[in-house]
Amino acid sequence: MLLLHYYLPQKLIKDNQKMCGIVGYLGKQNAAGILLEGLKRLEYRGYDSSGLAVFEDGNLIVTRRVGRVKELVAAVKKAPSQSSLGICHTRWATHGVVTEQNAHPQLSSDGKITLVHNGVIENYNTIQKFLISKGYTFSSETDTEVLCNLIAYHYAKEKEPKEGSRFAQSVRKAILHVEGTYGLAVLCADCPNEMVGARHGSPLILGVGREEILLASDVAALVSRTPEVVYLNDGEVVQIVGTDFTISTLDSEDIKPIINTVDWDISEGELGDFDHFMLKEIFEQPEALENAMRGRFSLDQSTAKFGGLNLTPQDLRQVDRILLCACGTAWHACLTIEFLIEKYARIPVEVEYASEFRYRNAPLDKNTLVMVVSQSGETIDTLAALQESKRKGYTTLAITNTVGSTIARESDGGIYQHAGPEIGVASTKAFTSQLMIGAMLALFLGRLRDMSFNDGSELVTGLKKIPDLVREITQHCAQIKSIAKKYTKKQDFLFLGRLSMFPIALEGALKLKEISYIHAEGYPAAEMKHGPIALVSEECPSVFFATEPDTLAKVVSNMQEVKARKGQIIVVRSANCPLPEGLADDEVIIPECHQAATPILASIPVQLLSYYIAVERGCDVDKPRNLAKSVTVE
Ligand code: M6R
Repeated sequence: MLLLHYYLPQKLIKDNQKMCGIVGYLGKQNAAGILLEGLKRLEYRGYDSSGLAVFEDGNLIVTRRVGRVKELVAAVKKAPSQSSLGICHTRWATHGVVTEQNAHPQLSSDGKITLVHNGVIENYNTIQKFLISKGYTFSSETDTEVLCNLIAYHYAKEKEPKEGSRFAQSVRKAILHVEGTYGLAVLCADCPNEMVGARHGSPLILGVGREEILLASDVAALVSRTPEVVYLNDGEVVQIVGTDFTISTLDSEDIKPIINTVDWDISEGELGDFDHFMLKEIFEQPEALENAMRGRFSLDQSTAKFGGLNLTPQDLRQVDRILLCACGTAWHACLTIEFLIEKYARIPVEVEYASEFRYRNAPLDKNTLVMVVSQSGETIDTLAALQESKRKGYTTLAITNTVGSTIARESDGGIYQHAGPEIGVASTKAFTSQLMIGAMLALFLGRLRDMSFNDGSELVTGLKKIPDLVREITQHCAQIKSIAKKYTKKQDFLFLGRLSMFPIALEGALKLKEISYIHAEGYPAAEMKHGPIALVSEECPSVFFATEPDTLAKVVSNMQEVKARKGQIIVVRSANCPLPEGLADDEVIIPECHQAATPILASIPVQLLSYYIAVERGCDVDKPRNLAKSVTVE
């Protein structure tokens, strides 16, 4: 019997896979081409190494390469396969060297099982010791190889069952002993017509095509083959035999699949005439903002309306506090949404990092509404914050861009962004779309409370103008590009803004550091005097936001403090916020708009500034070092 001592302290895992992309195929076509095509669409999830396994003449043939998917494509081209069954993987690791041995698919030491894995096996150390005692050997530093050998161990022990498959049963038995997270696609050398998948904590989606079934960690990898998908839930195992599949629990209870049709235009995932997805997505913002608003205003009521909240107006009137949770850029969006809801709906709002909230045990009361914000809908910290809130009995809502994502499915209700797929690792259109939804939510909640019809109507009119104003700003990209060229060699930047511009300062600093590796910090403009001013010099430019006439004088005096210390100033200012002659070295003027939407307009120039600086520095804008799009493990 396999005894696993879960109470033993776990060593730090050597190969902590942070976020990876997996694809599996079983059908009538050549698997390798389809798999590699799908993998290219998932490369944004990880790009350190990749690999492919196919079933050839009774053997599992594994090819792995360090580097981008194109390295794998070249290797597979040299040794083409005829197999119509296969799995593949693109990996991003946080610990341990990136080597071919550590890439996926991993193969069991008896050659019977191969698998691709997204997630972390936390108790790998205990399992590995047990397997070594049984004669299994290891050639990588990965927790995944441990799981692979554990399945092989159970497969070797398992008798052919009267019903069902020995292979699927051995996957079930192995994962019953696993602590951690996984999205898996597994092949067995004895089963040329079978693939098994399982999920716990990492996304896994089944694509149901014509005479073919696919598995993937993201619909992006499936949609060119089929729009019909089944989102697997935690604790579910899918067994695919030929072109049939069955979904069951770990205890082999059958589950009736729910087939969803995804509405995804495949060309949205293509670069088109743009050099990078980030630039394409910056230019897609007018449409993304239009989509966020489409059909969501009620003009005769001067309010917004959302179909999926699953809460009555009465429920919402009882909410006396809102807690917003997210990570990264989505957390910056939450800071803006806090500002908007407090200003327009007068409901107290707090913003928490999702990763902190889940461990903090913050006291909430029963009228607190918890909202999570996540582009991908799969960020593990945000998901865990959502689950913790639900466990404590709070009503939860999600703002997410990804239909059918885990966060969308697990929240009590929510709002889809409809911004279209965001491929660039640096979030742009998803961010401004979250700001738009935040403004609409503030309107909606405000109109359920004290906001007047006229104020509501003014806000609706103001928001509707935003897509065109964003278009206008993007038309000035050449000017922003020439500003960017002047600052390409700087190593430090400050981003400074007051009130609703503070989150935009944070976001501007994040964008710049993510893609150009320049150190940048965002601060409330007046806070600068309490420390960051020490950084100011000829070598550290400051990006100021001057968008509100009410606070303009204060921002101007902060700019003068920087100027007095020889700091260069780039300013993003509204047309109605004139500056003293010569104060700014460079300026980008954004059009006047409703105050609630200024954060959206002010974001565009800093996105473009970061983009052009990164391009000038020769950085890989869409796949910045050390980052991946979707962070699906802690
Ligand atoms: O998918 P999510 O919105 O939950 O992702 C959260 C962060 O990981 C994400 O915003 C990250 O900070 C981006 N790289 C920002 O550009």
